[in-house]
Amino acid sequence: MKKLIVGNWKMSPIHAKDAREKFVAIKKVASTLRNVQTVVCPPFIFMGDMKKLVSGHRCVLGAQNAWIENEGAYTGEVSPAMLASMGFGYIIIGHSERRALGEIDELVNKKILAAVKAGLTAIMCVGERERDPDGEYLKYIALQVRAALKGVQRKDLTRIVIAYEPIWAIGKHAVRAASTDDALEVSILIKKTLADLYGLSAPTSRQAGKDGGSAGILYGGSVDAKNAWEFLLKSHIDGLLVGRASLDPKVFGEILKSADKIK
Ligand code: PGA
Repeated sequence: MKKLIVGNWKMSPIHAKDAREKFVAIKKVASTLRNVQTVVCPPFIFMGDMKKLVSGHRCVLGAQNAWIENEGAYTGEVSPAMLASMGFGYIIIGHSERRALGEIDELVNKKILAAVKAGLTAIMCVGERERDPDGEYLKYIALQVRAALKGVQRKDLTRIVIAYEPIWAIGKHAVRAASTDDALEVSILIKKTLADLYGLSAPTSRQAGKDGGSAGILYGGSVDAKNAWEFLLKSHIDGLLVGRASLDPKVFGEILKSADKIK
């Protein structure tokens, strides 16, 4: 099964030329890998320009956000239908940095429903701010998953990818990356939550067939060239959501290559 490796460029780089160069360098590696689906999510403003550089399916572009309606008086927003019409298939929804700007569970849920309806694959982010010894964070994550999936039908689960991103492990102020056991614990929790919600008996794979297909699970937070393989090997996940390291084509290329080796 292909691993899904998503690069979230956030609000970088500043120049279109840099964006193009980075993408070309990433694509050079990604297009040689059979076992990896690579998705690069640049800022919106570069997407139209960068689309010309996409060739084939192994390395494609995705968005970092979109609105809940497809057209109308929503100044500054971009719609799921626009993304679909441009041929972009993936969208990150509910990233903790957007939640920190005020995106609440209800809005995340509406965005997921709108994205799925437009035919996009939604990479929905969940994760706790901190870990408490009593395990309250597990309840918090399960509630986030339930809230985000409200109204999502079982048949649409193949269009959902759930990225576990503990906030304490994200970005340059991260305490540390999560351990592979931390990620494993939550990947099991998410699978159990999906099983509870959808009555799936063994929701292990997003490509397990049309009916049995469940949501894929990613880990994100301080993923780098050194730890990527370990998460993929030990945490029972389908891929990775990579921030800082995805802006360095050399490091991201290493991550992609290590993912390709894991069957
Ligand atoms: P990071 O970010 O890899 O830079 O920690 C991950 C993310 O925010 O998706």
